[in-house]
Amino acid sequence: MKSLVFAAILVSFGAVVICQSHNYFWGYKGPYDVLLNRTFAIKSSSLLQVKTLDLVYPLKGQLGRNISAINITDQYINGKGGYASLLAGGIGYNHTTIHLKSQRGNGFSFIVEIYGR
Ligand SMILES: *[C@@H]1O[C@H](CO)[C@@H](O)[C@H](O)[C@H]1NC(C)=O
Ligand SMILES: *[C@@H]1O[C@H](CO)[C@@H](O)[C@H](O)[C@H]1NC(C)=O
Ligand SMILES: *[C@@H]1O[C@H](CO)[C@@H](O)[C@H](O)[C@H]1NC(C)=O
Ligand SMILES: *[C@@H]1O[C@H](CO)[C@@H](O)[C@H](O)[C@H]1NC(C)=O
Repeated sequence: MKSLVFAAILVSFGAVVICQSHNYFWGYKGPYDVLLNRTFAIKSSSLLQVKTLDLVYPLKGQLGRNISAINITDQYINGKGGYASLLAGGIGYNHTTIHLKSQRGNGFSFIVEIYGR
């Protein structure tokens, strides 16, 4: 009986995790850090496809400032949003490449904010 209750708790806990948004926050945003770039990254879903998008900071030919924090907000609240990872640069660098990837058959909608000074 005890193990059954335990299993039920595990299952409900798992369900909670699955239904959450995939938010990410890397680094530390200090009082002197300013918003360097905010991008609304949106891709619609296509049957059986995985959608990806690479966001590059800074724009080509521009100087990048020192990045102190990256804040990625998943606007899907049903757990079907995408995933984010850093391909290059990031915290402590003056450039970054952020890789966004949807789950198969889903799209994504992220707010990506880069802070630094
Ligand atoms: C922010 O980054 C995105 C993606 O690289 C770019 O399209 C946009 O122009 C940038 N905005 C500014 C204000 O630099
Ligand atoms: C980053 O900093 C290095 C050294 O300070 C500089 O050479 C480079 O041009 C900078 N890159 C960007 C994208 O600003
Ligand atoms: C970026 O960080 C480096 C090392 O901490 C520093 O030397 C440089 O002045 C910083 N650049 C800017 C634009 O703040
Ligand atoms: C992250 O970005 C979201 C969307 O813009 C914003 O609501 C939230 O306050 C930000 N979080 C931090 C710690 O800056």
